[in-house]
Amino acid sequence: MKRYNKVLILFGLLVTLLPFIFVRQAKAAETDPVYDKIKANGQLVVGLSADYAPYEFHATIDGKDEIVGFDISIAQKIADDLGVDLKIEELGFDALLGALKTGKIDVVISGMAATDERKKEVNFSNTYMEVQQKVIVRAEDADTFQSTADFDGVAVGAQKQTTQEELAQTELTGSIVTSLQKVPDLITNLTSGKIDAIVMEGPVADAYVMSNDKLAIAENVTFENGTKETAVAISKEAPVLLEKVNASIDTIVNNDLLTQYQAEANALMFGDENTVEQGFFAKYLPFYISGTGYTIFLAFVGVLFGSIGGSLLAFMKLSKNKVLKIIAAVYIEYVRGTPLLVQIFIVYFGTGVLGLDLSKVTAGCIALALNSAAYVAEIIRAGINAVNKGQLEAARSLGMNQIQAMRFIVFPQAIKNILPALGNEFVTVIKESSVVSVIGVSELIFQTGVVQGASFKPFLPYVIVSLIYFVLTFALSRLLGVAERRMKTSD
Ligand code: ARG
Repeated sequence: MKRYNKVLILFGLLVTLLPFIFVRQAKAAETDPVYDKIKANGQLVVGLSADYAPYEFHATIDGKDEIVGFDISIAQKIADDLGVDLKIEELGFDALLGALKTGKIDVVISGMAATDERKKEVNFSNTYMEVQQKVIVRAEDADTFQSTADFDGVAVGAQKQTTQEELAQTELTGSIVTSLQKVPDLITNLTSGKIDAIVMEGPVADAYVMSNDKLAIAENVTFENGTKETAVAISKEAPVLLEKVNASIDTIVNNDLLTQYQAEANALMFGDENTVEQGFFAKYLPFYISGTGYTIFLAFVGVLFGSIGGSLLAFMKLSKNKVLKIIAAVYIEYVRGTPLLVQIFIVYFGTGVLGLDLSKVTAGCIALALNSAAYVAEIIRAGINAVNKGQLEAARSLGMNQIQAMRFIVFPQAIKNILPALGNEFVTVIKESSVVSVIGVSELIFQTGVVQGASFKPFLPYVIVSLIYFVLTFALSRLLGVAERRMKTSD
């Protein structure tokens, strides 16, 4: 039986993966589906990670949160030249190329360097900017680091899957590299002494040093391969789009429009808004409010559909039918045995590969519900199994059939075991929903990142968000406690 189970699990895995393999190959070949889609929808979807002032970052303009920066000006110019609207999709930098390859976004404009590695996967437009990479350190250490040879045993940070990460690994000999997803997190690590240096894109490093006098650039540390060419990334299946984007970039470069774009970005970055200290809460409250709304929504939908799916799975697992039993068991084991993060990516990008165009929020809800269903199924199954077997037998011997016995005798007792555990599951889903931020759903953690980037304050936003989560989960546990006590009195 054991071996039989293993074979089945393997088979289940294979069946889940097959469509991904086939659909991938079935695509390609046509002329320029991406360009056609842009024209048909009347919008250009640009993917980026807005943690990168002055390239792309959040700023409050006329009381409204907006993503600005010179990359945005470039994106707007390209959209204008194409005669379509601009739509921005915000993702983690490490998720951008995946999103591009699966058609979630049309182009990446995110300070991305055209590297040989990436050229194997996607095309790049003509270069719009050449930049130097720098090392930033705490101000008091500015003179400690004189060359790339001074990093033996030093903890160095870089953004995940970037050219900076590669430089830290290859040129800062002997350094211990920590890679994080968001630039503000790197800054917190540096200011709090968890790491001692960060490899950073020149303009971004300058921006941080200018806005924070605890930081400095290690001027004498220069990289051998530190010059990078920034360009727009485009799918290999989009030759027409590539040509159009190149035309726009050429206009920008030939007319020196970038200087103007940069000046505008700098003005927004160091505009007086960022220096008004007491305004923090007033200014960023809307981000937290909207984030809280999304988090509650995600958790609610996740638990609701998770419970429905979970009940189904539990009954499948308890049923006498072998096939149903096995399907449920494989599903539950698979979901519980893989990280939620991976499941979210599979739902979001996987559905894209299959040609379904799910929004980020929908994908997030589905992933959470699918995940929660596995846990709810186990809660229900355990709850039912915990009811003494004699109860069922007694009911049957009184002449009830299986369904009646379950419904009138076993289930009312099981529900007392199930409800508290289900409540805990709700609390868990509230917290776990934070993972959905990786695909850019603007729930609490995502908004925290936005506030960090916009305020140049890396730590305070985390404290605030932790309090919000605590209030949410604490309030919920209390509510559940009350419900439980009510049920006890009904005994
Ligand atoms: N230029 C670097 C690279 O291409 C990092 C870019 C990061 N961009 C961002 N928006 N965070 O790898």
